[in-house]
Amino acid sequence: MYTKLWLDYETNDSGVRVLFDDPFSEDRKIQNAVKELKHCRFLKDKTVCLRITRDESLGEEGYHIYGNDPEYTIEAASETGLLYGAFRLISLLRLGFREVCEVPENRLRMLNHWDNMDGTIERGYSGNSFFFENNELIINQRTEDYARCLCSIGINGVVINNVNVKDEACRLIDDRHLIQVKKLSELFSSYGVKLFLSLNYAATMEDERIQSADPLDPRVGLWWERKFDEIYEKVPELGGFLVKADSEGRPGPFTYERTQAEGANMLARALKKHGGILVWRCFVYNCQQDWRDLKTDRARASYDYFHNLDGCFDDNVVLQIKNGPMDFQVREPVSPLFGQMPHTNQMIEFQIAQEYTGQQRHVCYLIPWFKEVLEFEICAKGENSRDSKVKDVVSGKTFDYKISGMCAVANTGSDENWTGHDLAAANLYGFGRLAFDPELSAEEIASEWIRLTYGNNEKVLQNIQKILMMSWPAYEKYNAPLGIGWMVTPSVHYGPDPDGYEYSKWGTYHKADCRAIGVERNASGTGYAGLYLEPNASMYENPETTPEELLLFFHRLPYSYVLKSGKTLIQHIYDTHFEGAEDVERMTELFRELRGLIEEKAFDRIEKRLEHQLWHSKEWRDVINSYFYRKTLIEDEKGRKLY
Ligand code: GCU
Repeated sequence: MYTKLWLDYETNDSGVRVLFDDPFSEDRKIQNAVKELKHCRFLKDKTVCLRITRDESLGEEGYHIYGNDPEYTIEAASETGLLYGAFRLISLLRLGFREVCEVPENRLRMLNHWDNMDGTIERGYSGNSFFFENNELIINQRTEDYARCLCSIGINGVVINNVNVKDEACRLIDDRHLIQVKKLSELFSSYGVKLFLSLNYAATMEDERIQSADPLDPRVGLWWERKFDEIYEKVPELGGFLVKADSEGRPGPFTYERTQAEGANMLARALKKHGGILVWRCFVYNCQQDWRDLKTDRARASYDYFHNLDGCFDDNVVLQIKNGPMDFQVREPVSPLFGQMPHTNQMIEFQIAQEYTGQQRHVCYLIPWFKEVLEFEICAKGENSRDSKVKDVVSGKTFDYKISGMCAVANTGSDENWTGHDLAAANLYGFGRLAFDPELSAEEIASEWIRLTYGNNEKVLQNIQKILMMSWPAYEKYNAPLGIGWMVTPSVHYGPDPDGYEYSKWGTYHKADCRAIGVERNASGTGYAGLYLEPNASMYENPETTPEELLLFFHRLPYSYVLKSGKTLIQHIYDTHFEGAEDVERMTELFRELRGLIEEKAFDRIEKRLEHQLWHSKEWRDVINSYFYRKTLIEDEKGRKLY
């Protein structure tokens, strides 16, 4: 058994009348829409009319819902639009009905699963894979519930296997697995979701006649052409493929001294006639860095590799760029690639799997963070220009991209509650809603999720909303200070270890010594600040104008440096770490006030995780504070206990 997330609306035969203009429709999406509406007990004694319109302003996926109780109409230009409309009507009846006319802002709204075929999940924090077991693809009721759940929040693409394609996953595109791939892709399609697969870029190496993955070797391109012909013949509705190349040991075009564009285009051309999309990741780096080298900078890597290739990628390629230049830390600047490749499709990659943000044992509602990223003004068309926030670039507005959008590394697994922490489901819900409509606020999304999940009790709404909204700032406070990141246990990425990555080769240094901390990334350092467009480049160049939450990401400063609050850097570190743990104490109290107001099993699960978080936030506080105290020997002004 498992919970049904926000969709658990106690199905019964409610007697709702659903009218559709064409009663003989065999379209699965329309049938699903009708099924959803009939199953929803809020619609008891109501009539819902589904209507296909010619209204082009609704596009392929939009809908218009109107009516007065007890009669409602959903209009859309396509079956998917009607299905989306059906889910939206059901939520609106829970949240308070109003007429809406909504069209998704982003063309691609995807999830990337990092599931391996042996059933494990890379960076998975909610059990095992529900897609794979013992090297087989599994399809069961849970798969259908998942497809339905994604559809209900407007997700329209899903990559089911890990970007690190190894072992049996290399054979996922072979005949042996394609029958199941086809079934899965049909199932997802009936909910408006396109199936994508991650590809092993070097598959041709294993063909004895080729033994190469050089993108300019015609035999390689031909091999892929035949391969895609074979795949699409069996699975015509497949959305396309995702590739991680030349990063963290994955093979790629660099092996043959070819560019990322040459690598991507070779695959994209073979895909083109099938209408497939090639999603090419920009998480490309190979920092084997020496700590004495003050110029090499991992943060520069994707910019340096991709920026000069603007205009060189085929039009069915979209570059998938992590939100920041490093790797999903609790705080990073936005990637400087956004807005600087006007002739190359781009999309943004977030991570709702909480790899660095508490691994779904800590509550960390990430939507306020994603909002900040999306709202960042990159000034792609000059200062004060319109339509050049990150959200405008990835929605395709700024440069009129053919393909663009948002994706997130998924946080679901085989756990009873899907996401390990019950409250982590707010990130899944929130990501979907935000990708559909980036104008929604983090508070609105939280409130929707709480009411759809726990009902309309005011106290439950208020307290959980407070907990969610406090959680990302709290996590940031007890984590590494002021944007420096990486003070985490290497490899597992859980728990404090201030020097854990300091002596490794990955180039994620904070360089703390007894005098100063931080990385000089302005012109006198790595030059990273200068990669941004003005006025951001100048803003990041100087400590005085750098937003303080990113101060140590951009600058190396003494502990006596005075912040805008009037506090020294070291006192700020002590204070925020005490505050972070206090915030979690407050969050735990707020939650405990809800005993008896939400289902007991769920209450117990969440309370247990909060207890762990409380203990762990204190551990973070003490380890980080003690680290800086021992480095600097500067006392806490407030005389609190430092170890
Ligand atoms: C991080 C993560 C890896 C993952 C990689 C990626 O580095 O730790 O497990 O493979 O990101 O995004 O590809």
